[in-house]
Amino acid sequence: MSKNATLEIDGKKYEFPVIEGTENEVAINIKTLRAATDGVITIDPGYKNTGSCESAITFLDGEKGVLRYRGYSIEELAEKADFLEVAYLLIFGELPTTEQLAKFDSDIKNQSHVDEDVKKILDGFPKSAHPMGVLASLTSALIAFNPTSVNVDSEEEMYNAIVRIMAKFPVLCAWAYRKNAGLPLDYGDDNLGYVDNFLKMMFKKPSGEYNSNKVMVNALDKLLILHADHEQNCSTSTVRIVGSSHAGLFASLSAGMSALWGPLHGGANQAVIEMLEAIKADGGDTKKYMAKAKDKNDPFRLMGFGHRVYKNFDPRAKIIKVAADEVLNDLGVEDPILEIAKGLEKEALSDPYFVDRKLYPNVDFYSGIIYRAMGIPVEMFTAMFALGRLPGWVAQWKEMRLRKEPIGRPRQIYIGENHRPFKSIDNR
Ligand code: SDX
Repeated sequence: MSKNATLEIDGKKYEFPVIEGTENEVAINIKTLRAATDGVITIDPGYKNTGSCESAITFLDGEKGVLRYRGYSIEELAEKADFLEVAYLLIFGELPTTEQLAKFDSDIKNQSHVDEDVKKILDGFPKSAHPMGVLASLTSALIAFNPTSVNVDSEEEMYNAIVRIMAKFPVLCAWAYRKNAGLPLDYGDDNLGYVDNFLKMMFKKPSGEYNSNKVMVNALDKLLILHADHEQNCSTSTVRIVGSSHAGLFASLSAGMSALWGPLHGGANQAVIEMLEAIKADGGDTKKYMAKAKDKNDPFRLMGFGHRVYKNFDPRAKIIKVAADEVLNDLGVEDPILEIAKGLEKEALSDPYFVDRKLYPNVDFYSGIIYRAMGIPVEMFTAMFALGRLPGWVAQWKEMRLRKEPIGRPRQIYIGENHRPFKSIDNR
C-alpha cells in the first residue's frame, strides 16, 4: 500500500499520509486537509467511511464476519471465558490471572452498595418509566454520590472508578426492573458470582429463597460476553465524544445508554420481539412483513436485520441462534416466535432484496428470545444490552482519555440563508 494519498482540487495536488493498522486496515490521515487546502473539509453522513480513532480494543471484519476482543475470537471467548474475565480483558488489555480475577471480583463485591438516597430518586419515577431512561438517569445521579472526577493518569483512581461502576450498574439494572414490577429492591449476595448475583437481585421472590439456575447463569453470561464491545458503534462513539470534553466516566456512560436506547441500535432487541409478536398475532404471515420491509413507502424495517458494518453474518447472531435452541430446550420453554424468527431468516436469506443489500440477522435478532425464556420482560432487553456493553464503554473511554484524544468537534457545510439585514417586526 503506498505511503501517501493524493487529492487533486482545482488542478492542485495535495498529499496525505496513509496509515495501516495491525489487521491491514488502511486510512488516509486528513488532519492537515483544511489548513492545506485553505478550508476544504470532507463530509460523510453517519461516518460510514470515516474513522474516529485508532483503537487496540476490538477488531471486526464486516465482510468476513470476524469479531475479536484484544485479539481473542468472540467464538473462543463465548465458549471458554466468563463475563468478568472478558470485562477485565477489554478494560485492562489482557486476560486476568487467577489472582487478578479474584481481586477484581472481590473489589467489585466490596463496591456493590448503592447509596440509599439513590432509592429516593428511583422512587420518583413512575412504575411505567422505561428502564433505559431510569438507568441513564441513575448512572448520572451516581456522580452526586461519587463527586470526585477520576484522575485518568492515576492507575489506582481509574481502577477504583471502574470497579465502582462495574459493581453498581447491575444493582441499578435489577432495581429498575423491580421498580417496574412493583417488587421490593434486593441487595444481592456476595457469595454468588457476578451474573448469578444479578439474576438473584432480579428474580429473588420477597417471600422465597433464591435458587441459582445454571442454565440461566451460563446463558446470560454468554449473552453479556457477546454484547461486551463492538468498536466504534453509535453508543460507544457517544461515550467517547462526551468523554473527550473531559466529562466524567459516569456522565459519559449515561450518555452512551441514551444512544443505545434507540431502536436502530440497542433498542432493536425489544423491537424484534414486538415485531415477531405482531407477526404471530397476524397469523404468522411472514410474507406480509417481508413485503412491508421491502416497500420504500412503508417505514417498517425487519428489526434485527442488517448492520452498518457486517455485510455477512454477524458472528454473535450465529452463536445466539444456537444458544436459543439449547436454552429453551434446557428450560423446557416452547416459544412459537422462535420458529417465526427462523422462518423469517430463511425467507430473507433467499430474497434478492436482502441478499443484494447484504442484510443478515444481527446480534439483536435472536437475543430477545433467550431473555424472554429467562423471564426477563421485553422492556428490560436494552438494559441487558447495556449491562453487557458496560465494560466495552469503560475500556473505550479509558483508551480515549489515556491517548489524550482531542475534544470531538466535527465541522459542517452550511446550507442556510446568506447574510441578510435584520427585519423589524412590523416588516415581517
Ligand atoms: C446494533 O454498529 C454496531 O456495531 C451496532 C451493534 C453493536 O453491537 O453496538 O452491532 C448493535 O445496533 C445492531 C443493529 C440493530 N438495529 C436493527 O436491527 C434495526 C434494523 N436495521 C436497520 O435499521 C439497519 O440495518 C441499520 C441501522 C442497522 C444499519 O443501517 P445502515 O448501515 O445505515 O444501512 P442503510 O440504512 O443505509 O440501509 C442500506 C439499505 C437501504 O435500502 P436502499 O436505500 O439501498 O434501497 O438496506 C435497507 C435500507 O432501506 N435496509 C433494510 C434494513 N436495514 C437496511 N431494509 C429493511 N429492513 C432492514 N432491517
